[in-house]
Amino acid sequence: MDKKRVLSGVQSTGNLTLGNFLGAINNWVTMQEQYDCYYMIADLHSLTVRNDPNTLRENALKLIALYVAAGLDPQKNNIFVQSHVSAHSELSWILNCYTYMGELSRMTQFKDKSAKHADNINSGLFTYPVLMASDIILYQADLVPVGEDQKQHLELTRDIAERFNKIYGDTFKVPEAYITRSGAKIMGLQNPEAKMSKSATNLNDVIFLNDTPDDIVKKFKKAVTDSDNLVKYDPENKPGVSNLMQIYGAVTSKSKEEIEKEFEGQGYGTFKMAVAYAVVEKLKPIQSKYNELLSNKDYIKQIYEKGDENARKIASVTLKDVKEKVGLIV
Ligand code: TYM
Repeated sequence: MDKKRVLSGVQSTGNLTLGNFLGAINNWVTMQEQYDCYYMIADLHSLTVRNDPNTLRENALKLIALYVAAGLDPQKNNIFVQSHVSAHSELSWILNCYTYMGELSRMTQFKDKSAKHADNINSGLFTYPVLMASDIILYQADLVPVGEDQKQHLELTRDIAERFNKIYGDTFKVPEAYITRSGAKIMGLQNPEAKMSKSATNLNDVIFLNDTPDDIVKKFKKAVTDSDNLVKYDPENKPGVSNLMQIYGAVTSKSKEEIEKEFEGQGYGTFKMAVAYAVVEKLKPIQSKYNELLSNKDYIKQIYEKGDENARKIASVTLKDVKEKVGLIV
């Protein structure tokens, strides 16, 4: 039987966070044996905010190095650059004509991002979920491993695919979000009511994947908890402690019950240090492999050139089918 297909991606803006890692990339690594995997650098999505061009280019290469350092085997996965496969932009235009303004206006990420970038609410920010839908259904992906914040975009993708299929007959596979319980939504360390985000203004709120062990320990020590001194999972009443448990669980594969038991009768000080060290240990080999890979730009190029080629093959078949169906001369 053919393997099911997986597609996902990360934007190449700024430094990646522990949230990006635990919500997405870490899960991708576990999928590489069982699935036919396509992981892209979402560089076109990154254009919805202003970037320094050289930094953006450099970030895309860094992200490829990080994918590999995190454990994605370039032989088993197709790692490619979104902007190198022009079918993404082409399908996105077509699907824009099958997506309603009302649907896009309801996207919570659009509302959040336009509040954050009030001086630059461009139409790319608005139609961004259509590009994301195109990324996914171009590959007829079965599964899309993402964090919970992308769930609404996945629902819209399904709606667009179903709408198109209904008009033109079976064209797109209707994909499913693949969201694991352990890393689905990592919250900020200072504000555990909001997701950990790379654009946070308080740097103590975020663990970046390239933070030093010292920084990581310091940030966890300062993490907001409560006054109970009880390690118990209760996201509603104890968001800070529950988030730390979530992180610890995602990194060590321990269950919430095991964690509660491990820290029974111990204070938050011991618990926070255990979380910090577990994260440091998890990131250490990734950081050193990452630095090693970054010094070999030729190898990084080889990786994406092979990925680009495989991606183009599949994407062009879907795009041709769509063009024919909507009435373009192909
Ligand atoms: P991006 O770049 O914002 O985030 C990349 C991945 O990280 C996950 N994530 C989190 N997971 C748990 N806790 C957090 N605090 C956290 N912060 C981020 C996100 O859910 C995501 O899985 N539009 C996408 C990129 C994209 C894409 C795609 C993804 C473009 N096309 C097609 C899947 C399929 C984005 O901006 O993710």
